[in-house]
Amino acid sequence: MRVDVVSIFPEYLAPLDLSLIGRARARGMLQLAVHDLRTWTHDVHRTVDDTPYGGGPGMVMRPEPWGEALDALAPAQAPPPRLLVPSPAGARFTQAMAHELAAEEHLLFACGRYEGIDQRVLDHAATRMPVTEVSLGDYVLFGGEVAVLVILESVTRLLPGVLGNAGSLDEESHAHGLLEAPVYTKPPSWRGHDVPEILRSGDHGRIARWRRDEALRRTAERRPDMLAALGDLDRRDRAALE
Ligand code: ADE
Repeated sequence: MRVDVVSIFPEYLAPLDLSLIGRARARGMLQLAVHDLRTWTHDVHRTVDDTPYGGGPGMVMRPEPWGEALDALAPAQAPPPRLLVPSPAGARFTQAMAHELAAEEHLLFACGRYEGIDQRVLDHAATRMPVTEVSLGDYVLFGGEVAVLVILESVTRLLPGVLGNAGSLDEESHAHGLLEAPVYTKPPSWRGHDVPEILRSGDHGRIARWRRDEALRRTAERRPDMLAALGDLDRRDRAALE
């Protein structure tokens, strides 16, 4: 997968060199480049923002540098990337969207700052490539950079070969519309708290059932919206919730 990120703070994306994302890059599974938007400015102040038409607080990112950046990173003759613009006004980012993005060849992230990017940048880009405004949740960040870190972490771990143990993708929270059951490791007893006996029984059938029951109970308590979205539960599942 190829990923380009455009930002006025490229240093913000430095964590992408670390850990498993860094390893995926080093192994060539991920071609990632971070670009400074100011590369595409032409005045001495390298201006990227201006006051909003119609008045109001804050500044808006001017369209010209963005237009040139997108022309350079998504040239008309090449297959178009999917443009992602982090914004609190975007569609909510979910595990389902992470899977969708993991199937793309080329992602291009445009990180807005201030009050956002001039709308014409997105409207023009949409004539040439799919554009998705994406929100991490119902809160406001300074800019899109941290959202890009979050999105790329969730997407790259779904790429084939990036996770050492792909089985963990199957077990984890949100994989089956449920939160994950609690996990334990050694020692069996710690500060008066014991590992549930069943997990040490070696009975894989009963362990799987216990994990599903715990996942159901946790989800019912913490995320009733997820449980409702799951639809019909079988008799055994319903028993776990009684
Ligand atoms: N930029 C500012 N706030 C954001 C949010 N909640 N999600 C994604 N990008 C943002």
